[in-house]
Amino acid sequence: MPFILGLAYLLIFLLLLFAIILTVFMIIDLFLELPYVGTQKKKMDTIMKFAKIKEGETVVDLGSGDGRLLIESAKRGAFAIGYEINPFLIAASIIHTKLEGLASHVEVFKKSLWRADLKVADVIFVYTLRKTMPKMEKFIFENARKGTRVVVNTNPFPNKKAEKEENGVYQYFLN
Ligand SMILES: C[S@@+](CC[C@H](N)C(=O)[O-])C[C@H]1O[C@@H](n2cnc3c(N)ncnc32)[C@H](O)[C@@H]1O
Repeated sequence: MPFILGLAYLLIFLLLLFAIILTVFMIIDLFLELPYVGTQKKKMDTIMKFAKIKEGETVVDLGSGDGRLLIESAKRGAFAIGYEINPFLIAASIIHTKLEGLASHVEVFKKSLWRADLKVADVIFVYTLRKTMPKMEKFIFENARKGTRVVVNTNPFPNKKAEKEENGVYQYFLN
C-alpha cells in the first residue's frame, strides 16, 4: 500500500513538473520573434507546389516546429533540415520523423535560425510574424545562394515582389 501511494505521489509530481516546464516554454514562446503556430493543413499543398522539390534537393525550414514541413519535404525526396529552439517541438519532430521512417532524410538542429547555413538550401521555408519579416528578408537575401526558392506562409517580405501568391502563400526566387 505505501508503495502504491509513493508511486502515485511520484506520478503526480512528475505530471506537475511536466506541466510547469510546458507552461514556462509556452510563456517564453509568446515573446519569440517566431511564436509557434504549425502550418495549416489547407496550405500544405500550396506550399509544396511552390517549393517544387526535386529528388535529392536540400530544404531548410527556419523555425521547424513539430517538423511537419520537413516530413512533407522528405516524402518528396528532399534532405530536410530544420532549425528549432523549443525542445518539446524538437522531440515531437524526432518522434514524428521516426514514425514515418524518414529519420535518414531529416535533421533538426537545436540552434537559432539566425545562425542557419542558408548556402546549402535549394528551398527555404519561412513562417513568422509580420514584424519579423524585414529582418528575415535581409537574412535570406544576404545569405542564401542564387536560384534558391523561398516559400513564405502568411506574411510576405516587405521589399521583394513575390513571383506568385496563392492561398496566403508566397513564392520568391533568389537571383
Ligand atoms: C510559426 S512556427 C512555424 C513552424 C513550422 N515551420 C511550420 O510551418 O509548421 C515558428 C517556429 O520557430 C521557432 N523559433 C522561434 N524563434 C526561433 C529561433 N531564434 N531559432 C529557431 N527556431 C525558432 C518556434 O519555436 C516555432 O516552432
